Amino acid sequence: MKQLIIINGPNLNLLGKREPEIYGKETFEDYLLLLQKKYSGIKIGYFQSNIEGELINKLQEVGFSYDGIILNAAAYTHTSVGIADAVKAIETPVVEVHISNTFSREEFRHQSYISPNAKGVILGFGLKSYDLAIESFIF
Ligand code: DQA
Repeated sequence: MKQLIIINGPNLNLLGKREPEIYGKETFEDYLLLLQKKYSGIKIGYFQSNIEGELINKLQEVGFSYDGIILNAAAYTHTSVGIADAVKAIETPVVEVHISNTFSREEFRHQSYISPNAKGVILGFGLKSYDLAIESFIF
């Protein structure tokens, strides 16, 4: 069975409450249950942290054994050389995901340290971005 993990960065634990006009009204936990049901033939793990080092630790932990990582590093996307280096260091392919279309927002969100080493980038489709990222690992 394929093993994927979704790794979410800072403030994504507040999905459903946080700026719903941008990120929607659904909690990630509810959406994850839908994904796990839809893709019952795949193991989909989940990890969220507001702490940069914990995200790096998780990438290192899963990055040599899992089949795929779906990473929304949230604000760290635009700042973290440490997470970018971790993505480069591991073997498991990483698909970078964003809920919002970061290119239609503030200029500082246009820069991603993750993208150069990601297998691909999916953004702007709301929570469906995660679903599309899972699809990308199936085909
Ligand atoms: C985000 C976009 C980031 O710019 C922002 O800091 C987030 C969420 C997204 O999923 O749209 O926290 O990664």
